Amino acid sequence: MPYTVPKLTDYSPAALASAADECIAACQSESAEVRSDGDLKIFRDRWMARKNGVLTQINDLWLKGAPKEAKREAGMRVNELKTRITELVEGTQVSADAGSLGPACVDISLPGIRRPVGAEHPVVKTANEIVAVFQKLGYSVAEGPVVETDYYNFEALNFPPNHPARDTQDTLFIAGQQSKPQRERLLLRTHTSPVQIRTMEKMRPPIRIVIPGTVHRNDPPDASHSPMFHQIEGLAVDTNITFGDLKGTLDHAMKALFGSSVKTHFRPSFFPFTEPSAELYVTCFICGGSGKREGNSPCRPCKQTGWIEVLGCGMVDPNVFEFVKDNGYDPKKVSGFAFGMGVDRLALLKYGVDDLQYFFQGDVRFLQQFG
Ligand code: DAH
Repeated sequence: MPYTVPKLTDYSPAALASAADECIAACQSESAEVRSDGDLKIFRDRWMARKNGVLTQINDLWLKGAPKEAKREAGMRVNELKTRITELVEGTQVSADAGSLGPACVDISLPGIRRPVGAEHPVVKTANEIVAVFQKLGYSVAEGPVVETDYYNFEALNFPPNHPARDTQDTLFIAGQQSKPQRERLLLRTHTSPVQIRTMEKMRPPIRIVIPGTVHRNDPPDASHSPMFHQIEGLAVDTNITFGDLKGTLDHAMKALFGSSVKTHFRPSFFPFTEPSAELYVTCFICGGSGKREGNSPCRPCKQTGWIEVLGCGMVDPNVFEFVKDNGYDPKKVSGFAFGMGVDRLALLKYGVDDLQYFFQGDVRFLQQFG
């Protein structure tokens, strides 16, 4: 039973002393039960609170109720008691439960708890490898926001409003933006290309940058699609950059990534922000370019063509430079190349994983294989 302040009928010194002792004993035993900061607050309030704390109750019940002739003695006793209780409450600390945590329970012969060391996720690992290849060529790393404006994601990359090329991007828009002018409307960036513009706004030419990051598209998840995936963008701008520089740089990068025996092959393509544009193919690193696996079985990753598409690229369109012309990018004076690749797909091919979804499900049994 918790302690309650008794009414006193006997105000003899002996009776006052025993009532005080009982009160102190109760306070000591409650003090020993304080296990947490929360307990401590409750304990303090119960004994010290001005309104209805135990000391206030003692004041009211023992002092005010004392007969005239006992007032002096009772006043002294109560003052002593208050000092004692205040010391006890102030000195109370949160204590551990000696019963369950005492030294007797520690068994140093038991095996320790093994804390597994984490490892890079295969997609992050692949991205880091790609970035490192370009860093060795003198490229720096830039990043940009995932929630982007229509201006950076489309307009400044030469996608005119209502142009059908926007449809190829399956854009996820942020809701409630209709009242804003189109260029200010927010969306989830569909590619890392907007960071080309953001970087050129901040840095004057010459520049050499790679841009890793996540992008989003309205694609339902399946073995080769995910609404979130990763890209690495590249941009080089200087005087006299040519398509030959683009070919030489990417050929070197592919050999550094997939081995010196891979061959590269450029096919004409279209992107609004590059002209001319191309898709880069490398000889299939699964079948070595033959289109066949051991025992003459068909090679699936390259669909028996012997070639795998790895990225989009091209010479920066002069219309793009027009948007950053004031920062030194006069299309008559500078030229550049750009490229963008999907990291997840390359990681799939590199590790021979047959379903993209494994990368994003967080299943430790899958991820451990890359540790
Ligand atoms: N942004 C393009 C995409 O996501 C990829 C790309 C193509 C990036 C050509 C480039 C480029 O920088 O030059 O489909």
